Amino acid sequence: MSDILLNVSGLTMRFGGLLAVDQVEFSVKKDEVFAIIGPNGAGKTTVFNCVGGFYKPSSGRITMDGVSITGRPSHRVARHGLVRTFQNVRLFKSLTVLENLLVAQHLQMQTGLLQGLFKVPSFRHSEMQAKQRAADWLDFMGIRQFANREAGNLAYGHQRRLEIARCMITKPRLLMLDEPAAGLNPQEKHDLQQLIDRLRREFNVAVLLIEHDMSLVMGVSDRILVMEHGKPITTGLPEVVRADPRVIKAYLGE
Ligand SMILES: Nc1ncnc2c1ncn2[C@@H]1O[C@H](COP(=O)(O)OP(=O)(O)O)[C@@H](O)[C@H]1O
Ligand SMILES: [Mg+2]
Repeated sequence: MSDILLNVSGLTMRFGGLLAVDQVEFSVKKDEVFAIIGPNGAGKTTVFNCVGGFYKPSSGRITMDGVSITGRPSHRVARHGLVRTFQNVRLFKSLTVLENLLVAQHLQMQTGLLQGLFKVPSFRHSEMQAKQRAADWLDFMGIRQFANREAGNLAYGHQRRLEIARCMITKPRLLMLDEPAAGLNPQEKHDLQQLIDRLRREFNVAVLLIEHDMSLVMGVSDRILVMEHGKPITTGLPEVVRADPRVIKAYLGE
């Protein structure tokens, strides 16, 4: 069996005359933390949007475990165990923290609304399980004390953790994080690095990471893809990428 979970080849995305992503290739192994870095506008988020089914790529091929998910909408892609966070936190801000985690599970299970209305025993049982899982994830993230607060009223760092919990509660195989350290203080960044390590070790989830914070990227990633102007410049181990003159140039030229 192949140890490759996600494979992306020849990925290209055009917006009118703009070539936002140009022939990008990479693969993410099971249990690997794989980072994409590059200056603003390099095309990193667009890669996420293509992989996650938010955009239909102009060309290229994306597979999960060898099965093509190219051009599939995001809810279909999610069924292959691929979930993401957004560069700007997207939570149901007027729902409570706990409710955000319940909604995530409902969307995934798509348990019939009718079942819910009539409160059949199987529904009540799965409701209880869903609540337990939510409580467990809030414990894991250290935000259980905020369970009944409106999500929008949480401190920013806690909203980021809730967003990751909302992804993890669906038991993904690939967790995609778009600039998870943005807006975090140094202590929160340090905690985030440990969190990513733990998620990988304890839940066997592979992580695809976009991040600007170099110490986080270098500390947590197994391999790094560097992009500039939509093109892949190089892929390699953190220490190799860090010393690559083309990478240094891309950053200094920013
Ligand atoms: N929906 C869109 N429509 C038009 N242009 C877009 C769209 N999304 C991204 N772009 C453009 O594509 C390029 C890459 O953007 P993006 O993927 O967000 O870069 P990054 O995440 O690396 O900062 C930018 O020039 C951006 O303006
Ligand atoms: Mg971006």
